[in-house]
Amino acid sequence: MTLRTRPLAVAAALLLPLAGGLLGGCGPRETTQTAAPSSTGGGGAAGKTYLIGVSQANKGEPWRQAMNDQIAAAAQGHPELNVQFADAAQNNAKQVADVENFLQQGINLLIISPNEAAPLTDVVAKAYDKGIPVILLDRKVKGDKYTMWIGADNKKIGQEAGQYVVDWCKRNGHTPCRVMEIRGLEGSSPAKDRGDGFRAGIASDPAVKIIASQNADWLREKAIPVSQAMLQANPNVDVVYAHNDPMAEAAFISAGSAHRDTSKMLFVGIDGLPTPDGGIVSVKSGRLGVTHVYPTGGKEAIDYAVQILEKKQTPPKAVVLPTVQVTKANADAVLKQFGGK
Ligand code: FRU
Repeated sequence: MTLRTRPLAVAAALLLPLAGGLLGGCGPRETTQTAAPSSTGGGGAAGKTYLIGVSQANKGEPWRQAMNDQIAAAAQGHPELNVQFADAAQNNAKQVADVENFLQQGINLLIISPNEAAPLTDVVAKAYDKGIPVILLDRKVKGDKYTMWIGADNKKIGQEAGQYVVDWCKRNGHTPCRVMEIRGLEGSSPAKDRGDGFRAGIASDPAVKIIASQNADWLREKAIPVSQAMLQANPNVDVVYAHNDPMAEAAFISAGSAHRDTSKMLFVGIDGLPTPDGGIVSVKSGRLGVTHVYPTGGKEAIDYAVQILEKKQTPPKAVVLPTVQVTKANADAVLKQFGGK
């Protein structure tokens, strides 16, 4: 693979078998910005090289960096691959332009994690209609003009989070049990699925009620003021359900600065990165009560990309990756399983 190699990425590659291929390593990774010519010379089985464009929704969030790292680490085992990364910085128009740019460069395959579904649908369909295989990672587009989607079941994660909340409320005598929800970016598919799944999960217990729900676009920085305002308006919140760990951590900080007794509250997150500042360690240290490992699918994307490019098999339309609910009881084991510290 023609990428600049950094020691952390090599470490990540070594850890991947331990991680069961679910999560990437940590640490930043830089990419080259110039594309090599495709389908010439190189180390592929048939002597070909392939240019893969990776269009990332943003690189500002740790989970997305982990996805890029995992893609890069997996691609290192394939000298026939030239992988180029683009960062849309949470901007739909920029991501459309990134994909257009990849098309002009003559990519052989597109891997994309769309910022929002609707605004990215046309450009993804354009690539697909041109005969370029498209692998969607984590977030979806509208319709079915793509080759395959790889990701975890966000409805199921939301539902399991909801069931955990129901049990926690019962166990701790919170009747009624008041939940505030901090949602991900509204036009991104996981936000809808995590919200819907959670509602299904708490449906069995009418004592558990969502009393406030606001959007913080997946961002920790945004979730600080949003959660401050929500806590101020709702003095009796028992549970914070955040659609990802960075927003759950933000709410924990806001609750502390609002002099709430956080030991009597439950903070629920999703992502469960095995890094020192990730969700699993946060559960271990008692800030988050529960999180859910949300695999990035980066390794699987490269595995399928190779199969598609070498026409070894028709890929399935959807590959659903396994997830794990993480509490204090299994945090150490999960951390070990995913090669974290
Ligand atoms: C990163 C992120 C993750 C979340 C995923 C959902 O951009 O917000 O925290 O799990 O996207 O697509």
